[in-house]
Amino acid sequence: MTKPKVFVSRIIPAAGLDQVKAHCEVDLWTERMPPPYEVLTERVRGVDGLLCLLTDRIDPALMDAAGPQLKVISQMAVGYDNIHIPAAAERGIPVGHTPGVLTEATADLTFALLLAAARRIVEGVNYIKAGKWETWEPETLLGADLAGAKLGIIGYGRIGRAVAKRASGFDMNLIAYDPTISAEDAARLGITLVELDTLLAESDFVTVHTPLTAETRHLINHDTLHKMKRSAILINTARGPIVDPGALYDALKAGTIAYAALDVTEPEPIAADHPLLSLPNLTIVPHIGSASVRTRNQMAEIAAANLLAGLRGKPLPHQVPNR
Ligand code: DGY
Repeated sequence: MTKPKVFVSRIIPAAGLDQVKAHCEVDLWTERMPPPYEVLTERVRGVDGLLCLLTDRIDPALMDAAGPQLKVISQMAVGYDNIHIPAAAERGIPVGHTPGVLTEATADLTFALLLAAARRIVEGVNYIKAGKWETWEPETLLGADLAGAKLGIIGYGRIGRAVAKRASGFDMNLIAYDPTISAEDAARLGITLVELDTLLAESDFVTVHTPLTAETRHLINHDTLHKMKRSAILINTARGPIVDPGALYDALKAGTIAYAALDVTEPEPIAADHPLLSLPNLTIVPHIGSASVRTRNQMAEIAAANLLAGLRGKPLPHQVPNR
């Protein structure tokens, strides 16, 4: 029996790749950088399945270039804002993603950034490297306390809730903004839901855990930054374009907010000479929220399982809703 043809747009952990290789004829993109859009469009011609990453733009033209035999698109990520979901739905192509397995790793990184920002860890490291550590000083590198501080969580889905669990352990007070959650669900989850303006005005720390949609693009902008406390610390481990980078630069430079720590940026990757990187009150790491060994292995396994299910015409174990 002939094996289905698939294109895999990067080398992924063997936990998933070996499964795909065992059941498919695989065209594997082996370079470090993602395939350029035009190359991707060529390579998907005639494939039955596509295993892709968040760095690939999967739009209607690419789906048409692949052809009507394309049975499944499987993304190794929970977020799928790079894929045109309505176009896939119109063409009857199920799209898979990898929710759940990266919740804890992403919440861990969020908390690592929150603690690093609160206690000025990166500034401290740079302080020593610059030869400035000459004595113990009563008022040098003073940061913010977590205990008793208010954490505002924008987006109270899986990752937002996992962050809340960690914050509770640090005796933080929690509020959340999430228009998709009902009052009954909030009561069941034990979270106080507030309007966005209230969250921005009251929170000592604001952390973003909402998907990137038309509604959330630049949700954190000049206006919303000016509604935050001057002492506030902003964390974003969701998607870069939720925060307007120009507005964030102005706010950090002017002291409108105290500090920001980001795992994601707009654009991504951010250039080493980007003005944001010149600011002392900002820490950026390179989109590593899910980058633990176990998590990436599980993501690869789920991406493979979604792909193979789609190729067999079966329901995907983790299918993106058709919206
Ligand atoms: C995702 O899965 O959407 C993360 O951004 C990368 O793991």
